[in-house]
Amino acid sequence: MKVVPLAGALGAEIHGVDLKQDAAWNEIHQAFLKYAVLVFRDQKIEPADLMKIGARFGEPCHYPFVTGMDKFPFIFEVIKEPDEKRNFGGAWHSDTAYLKQPPLATLLHAVQTPEHGGDTLFTSTAAAYDALSDGLRKVVDGLTGVNSAELKHGGGRSNLHKGIGSMKVHDTDSAADYVAEHPIARTHPDSGRKALYASRSHTTHFKGMTEEESAPLLNFLVQHQVKPEFTCRVRWAPGTLTVWDNRCTQHNAVNDYHGQRRHMRRITVGAQTPR
Ligand SMILES: [Fe+2]
Repeated sequence: MKVVPLAGALGAEIHGVDLKQDAAWNEIHQAFLKYAVLVFRDQKIEPADLMKIGARFGEPCHYPFVTGMDKFPFIFEVIKEPDEKRNFGGAWHSDTAYLKQPPLATLLHAVQTPEHGGDTLFTSTAAAYDALSDGLRKVVDGLTGVNSAELKHGGGRSNLHKGIGSMKVHDTDSAADYVAEHPIARTHPDSGRKALYASRSHTTHFKGMTEEESAPLLNFLVQHQVKPEFTCRVRWAPGTLTVWDNRCTQHNAVNDYHGQRRHMRRITVGAQTPR
């Protein structure tokens, strides 16, 4: 197994591994904790394989707003057709932060990709935390974020998801029911490293403050944590599988491939309470 880092803060490409074999799991897991985003190329993976690979990271999680595949309810298909303009996941976020126990990892496997475009950006929220001043770290250490599935800043979940007609979206009207409080600076249970856990997509305000009062610092944090030096960029091809650590990263699906089809399969695993 060969590990090729993608950037300074996070991300690595892993060569010489067939994920359907169990052999390299310990090394893969160590690399996952070190690099937080792992990219595997040319993986011939069917949904049953994706279930098995995901299970090594944790128990499969249910996604509340998209119906899973017929025989694999935990896997759902992320699709953008050539005639669609909106994409799924096209803003900085950590997956389903509005759940009490968000998944520790997400696995995304590319079935069909645009000739170019449709990359995914990742950022290290741990590197972003480390780069704060001592003074601001003390402030954020004492804050709790309130996270909602409503996607208020994106114009509302129902409205946003109307445009992604090829996906089996449901229950978006109940998005406001999904609210969870999590620390703004969460501690990674394996590394002990702290990371910011706030996003424009999900975090509406700090607990005990109004949205208006929270906005200036929240805006600073969500802008700060996506500085170029904290990020890496993953280019997809059919067969690429990327797994990321939702506890110390955020991602953003770049919507720059209108007219071309992109088809991915996704599973989230390892429900865990952020602390
Ligand atoms: Fe996502």
